[in-house]
Amino acid sequence: MQDKIQKARDAIARAEKLLVFTGAGISKESGVPTFREADGLWEKFKAEDFATLDAFKRNPREVWKWYRERRALALKVKPNPAHYAVVRLEEAHEDFLVATQNIDNLHQRAGAKKVLELHGNIMHSYCMKCGHLVDESAGELPGEVPSCPCEDCDGLMRPKVVWFGEQLDPHDLERSFQFASECDCCIVIGTSGLVYPAAQIPFLARRNDATIIDVNPEPSAITPIADYFLAGPAGQIMPRLVEE
Ligand code: APR
Repeated sequence: MQDKIQKARDAIARAEKLLVFTGAGISKESGVPTFREADGLWEKFKAEDFATLDAFKRNPREVWKWYRERRALALKVKPNPAHYAVVRLEEAHEDFLVATQNIDNLHQRAGAKKVLELHGNIMHSYCMKCGHLVDESAGELPGEVPSCPCEDCDGLMRPKVVWFGEQLDPHDLERSFQFASECDCCIVIGTSGLVYPAAQIPFLARRNDATIIDVNPEPSAITPIADYFLAGPAGQIMPRLVEE
């Protein structure tokens, strides 16, 4: 493993344009559940009952309750060594981007600046009628099903996350695809690589002959295209990729 770590470190050091693509696994050691593992969220909750627009329209109270619980957890946990290692990579690379599928805000709390949240941010809500955006990391919106705080609007507030069946922000998607198509190294951390269009990102990097480094305790859909599969928890592997 040390030999692969060293080769991956060399590829990162040589990188002119470095992309980091993350999934729920990078936050696992912070205490945030993943989705598809045995103890994952989709083993306990049906995505169609909590993470679709239809579910929200059918039962806004239940969906809001679920997101409030996930927000409370996201606020309670802390970034782990893997998030801080990604910040070190950002500091060492001028041309750098984190494209994350995560909504837990932990990359930003660790100090990352160049973050594209492809699936939104659990701390943000917006009005379904007027689009008024609220950042709730400071506090809670009133009411079990919060309504728009605007004077002359009675719209419902919803979490600013991408639900199944919804489009990702086209600008963010285009920017992450463009960056992936031009990068010369892509570090994939903690994703099963099963959910598109985000999962296309490492494949676009591969098509540009970028070095692909896959950090995951288990093989994923990305592992077959990885130059280096570093099998282990991100909190242990990532610091070894950035230590002096
Ligand atoms: N370090 C690194 N990877 C880990 C760790 C860890 N400590 N623990 C688990 N993993 C890996 C698992 O092996 C798995 O491959 O993290 C991955 C988590 O996969 P998923 O649960 O499918 O999460 P993710 O890939 O982020 O899902 C993508 O699906 O449900 C949607 O919107 C949701 O953004 C999410 C998207």
